[in-house]
Parts: sequence; C-alpha cells; structure tokens
Amino acid sequence: MSNENAISEFQIVPATPEMLPDILLLEEACFSSPWTRKMLETELMGNQFAHFLVATQKGQSAVGAKSSIVGYHCFWIVFEELRLMNLAVRESLRRQGIGRSLARDAFRFALDQTATRAVLEVRASNTPARSLYTQMGFVQVGQRPQYYTNPVEDAVLMELNPLVMPSGQLQVRTCRTGGESTSTDSL
Ligand SMILES: CC(C)(COP(=O)(O)OP(=O)(O)OC[C@H]1O[C@@H](n2cnc3c(N)ncnc32)[C@H](O)[C@@H]1OP(=O)(O)O)[C@@H](O)C(=O)NCCC(=O)NCCS
Repeated sequence: MSNENAISEFQIVPATPEMLPDILLLEEACFSSPWTRKMLETELMGNQFAHFLVATQKGQSAVGAKSSIVGYHCFWIVFEELRLMNLAVRESLRRQGIGRSLARDAFRFALDQTATRAVLEVRASNTPARSLYTQMGFVQVGQRPQYYTNPVEDAVLMELNPLVMPSGQLQVRTCRTGGESTSTDSL
C-alpha cells in the first residue's frame, strides 16, 4: 500500500501561469496571511526580479484536479542580492527535504546570476523555517517589531553573506529556472 505522506521522487521546475490556481491553494493552506491571486500573478508575470519554482511529484500532471504541486518558492534576485520571499511545502509532505531543495535551487540560480548574498524575513515563531534557514547557513542580523499581522508578530531578519551552497547535505534534485538544465537523483 502506498503511503500518501511519503514522496519518493519530485522534481523542481519553473512555475507557469497555468499553475497559478494550484499555487494559490498551497499558499492559502500554508500561510495565515496568504498572498492573493493578484499578488501571485504579479510575481509570476509582472516582476522582472521575481523567480518562481515549483516542486512537483514525478509522474503526475502539474496542473488541475490531479495537481502534483507539492511546494513552491518565490525569490527575487536584485542585482547582487537573493531575497527569499515565499517558500511553502504541502503540510502532509514536509520534513522530506522538499523545502531545502527549493531553497538550494534558488541559491544555485542566484549564484549563476552572480548574486553574492541572500536575505530573508521570517516570523519569529516559525521554528521550522528558521531551522531550515539556519541549517543553510543564514544568521540572524536583526528584528522588526510587530512586522507581521494575523497574528501580529516580530520579523526576524536573516542573512547569508557571502552566498555559498550549503555543504554536507544530500543533493536530491537539481534544476535551473528557465529550464536550461535538469538532472535527477532519487530521494
Ligand atoms: C518551512 C517549510 C517550507 C520547510 O519545508 P520542508 O520541506 O518541511 O523542509 P525540509 O524537509 O527540507 O527540512 C529541512 C530542514 O529544515 C528544518 N526543519 C524543517 N521542518 C522542521 C520542523 N518542523 N522542526 C524543526 N526543524 C525543521 C530541519 O533542519 C530540516 O532538516 P532535517 O530534516 O535534516 O533535520 C515548511 O515547514 C512550510 O511550508 N511551512 C509553512 C510555510 C512557511 O512558514 N514558510 C516559510 C516562510 S518564511
């Protein structure tokens, strides 16, 4: 019997406009103040700095009722700076390396674009995300009091400077935004 809470293989590919409804569903399931469809649309299609990756379960359609989208990552590259904006993984499939792979692919892409450092903001209480970022080498560099709403909460500012690929972790998937190249290892 298959275990729906375990994923054997996934791939990371650039998001397309057709994936928007499924990304929105994931966004709404993962955040207390989710981005709206309009905001996602702007990031995906109207922001020259934004890049959008999705993790999809291999062998399934990435769009529609049988959507295989299990995670996504929106990040910006603004000149030398990589900004991690939104990173989310389907709740039932967390803790299997999908979030780390989505972050790693953003690192790789940003390094190719000659980014030299990475920054992000995260809710102070978000232990899973803070642990992931710490594992990837980020350190806390500041705090913004009551930055978030619903619920009101401080933002922790984290930075990775210089930007380097984290070492000592299993390379699960590699891919490039824009689809220039892909390669796959099993999980
Ligand atoms: C944060 C999030 C994207 C992590 O995704 P994920 O696929 O579960 O993460 P990974 O399996 O790649 O975990 C990588 C590392 O992060 C840390 N981590 C992840 N979840 C954790 C948890 N619940 N508790 C403690 N550490 C955790 C661990 O160090 C983990 O490495 P390990 O499993 O080898 O110990 C996911 O929890 C999520 O979607 N959360 C809701 C949305 C969100 O808060 N996004 C971040 C906004 S800034």
